[in-house]
Amino acid sequence: MISRRKKSFFPGAKAIFLLFLILAAGATLVVASRVSNLMKPNIGPNDTNFPQSNRPIQPSGPNPCSYVPGPGHCKAPSDASSSIQHDSQCSEDLLVHSVFILPWYQNPHKGNPVESDLRRFSVEFNLPGISMASTMLSLTSATPSASLSMQEILKGKARLGSGTGSTLFNKEKGNPFIKEKSFGRISMTVAVNASCFEGIAMAPPDPILGVSEAFRADTDAKKLNLGVGAYRTEELQPYVLDVVNKVSKLYLSNWYIAERLMLERSENKEYLPIEGLAAFNKVTAELLFGADNPVINQQRVATVQGLSGTGSLRLAAALIERYFPGAQVMISSPTWGNHKNIFNDARVPWSEYRYYDPKTVGLDFEGMISDIKAAPDGSFIVLHGCAHNPTGIDPTPEQWEKIADVIQEKNHIPFFDVAYQGFASGSLDEDASSVRLFAARGMELLVAQSYSKNLGLYAERIGAINVVCSSADAAARVKSQLKRIARPMYSNPPVHGARIVANVVGDPALFNEWKAEMEMMAGRIKNVRQKLFDSLSAKDKSGKDWSFILKQIGMFSFTGLNKTQSDNMTNKWHVYMTKDGRISLAGLSLAKCEYLADAIMDSYHNVS
Ligand SMILES: Cc1ncc(COP(=O)(O)O)c(C=O)c1O
Ligand SMILES: *[C@@H]1O[C@H](CO)[C@@H](O)[C@H](O)[C@H]1NC(C)=O
Ligand SMILES: *[C@@H]1O[C@H](CO)[C@@H](O)[C@H](O)[C@H]1NC(C)=O
Ligand SMILES: *[C@@H]1O[C@H](CO)[C@@H](O)[C@H](O)[C@H]1NC(C)=O
Ligand SMILES: *[C@@H]1O[C@H](CO)[C@@H](O)[C@H](O)[C@H]1NC(C)=O
Repeated sequence: MISRRKKSFFPGAKAIFLLFLILAAGATLVVASRVSNLMKPNIGPNDTNFPQSNRPIQPSGPNPCSYVPGPGHCKAPSDASSSIQHDSQCSEDLLVHSVFILPWYQNPHKGNPVESDLRRFSVEFNLPGISMASTMLSLTSATPSASLSMQEILKGKARLGSGTGSTLFNKEKGNPFIKEKSFGRISMTVAVNASCFEGIAMAPPDPILGVSEAFRADTDAKKLNLGVGAYRTEELQPYVLDVVNKVSKLYLSNWYIAERLMLERSENKEYLPIEGLAAFNKVTAELLFGADNPVINQQRVATVQGLSGTGSLRLAAALIERYFPGAQVMISSPTWGNHKNIFNDARVPWSEYRYYDPKTVGLDFEGMISDIKAAPDGSFIVLHGCAHNPTGIDPTPEQWEKIADVIQEKNHIPFFDVAYQGFASGSLDEDASSVRLFAARGMELLVAQSYSKNLGLYAERIGAINVVCSSADAAARVKSQLKRIARPMYSNPPVHGARIVANVVGDPALFNEWKAEMEMMAGRIKNVRQKLFDSLSAKDKSGKDWSFILKQIGMFSFTGLNKTQSDNMTNKWHVYMTKDGRISLAGLSLAKCEYLADAIMDSYHNVS
């Protein structure tokens, strides 16, 4: 809405000069008051990491309110009235207090508007002041540098008009500002904060990685970080595997690589193909299925290097979204929190199957089977290949067979997440047995792999997505589409981790060393698991059975502590863990087991 006065009246030459400056200026100033609760972002998951299942997936496409934060909307809308219409659409989200577009004025002698002119401007026009604490300014159509400097000046100095949006915009009611002063060219538009990102709310901290932040902030000497699933030594220090060190050192001397490792002669930093390092893709599929598995020999596996487990899951989720629209993904309840984020972001609907039974702190096998049975035919069933996160509870081999029966019966597609191969039992083959059991039945399946834990390559982001198909032809087509999905996401994956894996697995001596180290790591975790159980059993005279701890496997233990009790673990005992009661035994040393047992017992028995 633009309101313009034909006749301007200025009480003095100074003001006339000012008007001249105003009209001569090319810049427009947008003054906006704070917009509260401006917009809720309308895409992506609602970011709790534990959003409700079956949450309707919001439509993509432009947000009706997107003129506020989106590209091109940092400028004042060219047509103020249209932006007001926009505003009414967004009225639930926008609380517009006031807005002006003031024609900007420039001091012809000094080039850009200066502070003194501004001050004069505000004095002469006698704009009603508003709290600067709730005002942001932005300039349009000025040069970027002019915008910036003016913004700075105005932020600190100017006193600018404010009112309530509707009266300001309403011609009938009139603009008190214009009435009072009746001069100049005043146009008004919707309030926008100076930032294009005003509509972006603060995201909650990640429920897992946030635990480490809280841990760092704690100054108590007794503190213990059992939040993040990363391996620690008995001294609770991060660990770089010897084989990884060796391979990395080998890279420093090219002649040695050429001599000893067959895989790559020169270590350049050229782009990898979209699907990743061929030598890596070969060994990773062989490690998973076994080199002599028919699915490998018949070339029925589409393998694409991914950005570790997470990135590989994300690629598969995109494949599901694209080629199985509306298909249901079933995840265990509970599961690794990021699963929900991944499927939400890929806009894949998911729901949960029962998995954990709080009464037994064990597997709710009947519940799991009946929920998988009840899922629509052709659903994707996400299964943790081994060392279920967060519970540490895995099905027995007999239970795996029954799970496979139901999945086959229902024409579901198993989707394995294998983030701990070799790390759970210490044996690569044993930890892959669930996947191999399904493959041996001739089923088609998806498997995401990660080398974060078993090779300690957390930061290298190395893993893979494998899609086992019923024919080599289908595998080739699936692979081509996975590449097509990867290309616009990140173009191609990083090389360093892939070379490490390829060299470790491809070299028999290094491979054996790796297996020994993995056994060592898995063994240390088993030792603290045993010690924790022993400490709890010795201390607790209540008759409570803690043996579930020994039945669990891998890095994690589900303690059965609820949120209140977990909070007490942290607030009282300085034990950092996720609020679902999960502890990472990899962050525990034998020396700290007694202390942890005291904390668990106190929280379990005394917190209500
Ligand atoms: C079940 C599960 N899947 C996947 C991952 C993926 O981790 P990354 O992306 O580091 O490979 C993890 C890591 O904690 C996990 O626990
Ligand atoms: C997430 O969605 C649920 C259900 O739709 C809602 O109750 C909750 O407030 C939302 N959380 C956030 C942070 O938006
Ligand atoms: C919007 O403006 C107000 C007032 O300056 C400020 O407090 C608020 O932080 C601004 N928003 C952003 C995202 O900068
Ligand atoms: C821990 O739980 C006990 C028992 O309920 C309570 O008295 C205490 O205030 C809690 N401490 C903290 C730090 O939460
Ligand atoms: C946690 O368990 C205690 C003891 O059974 C109970 O009193 C408390 O209400 C529970 N808290 C929550 C959040 O479930």
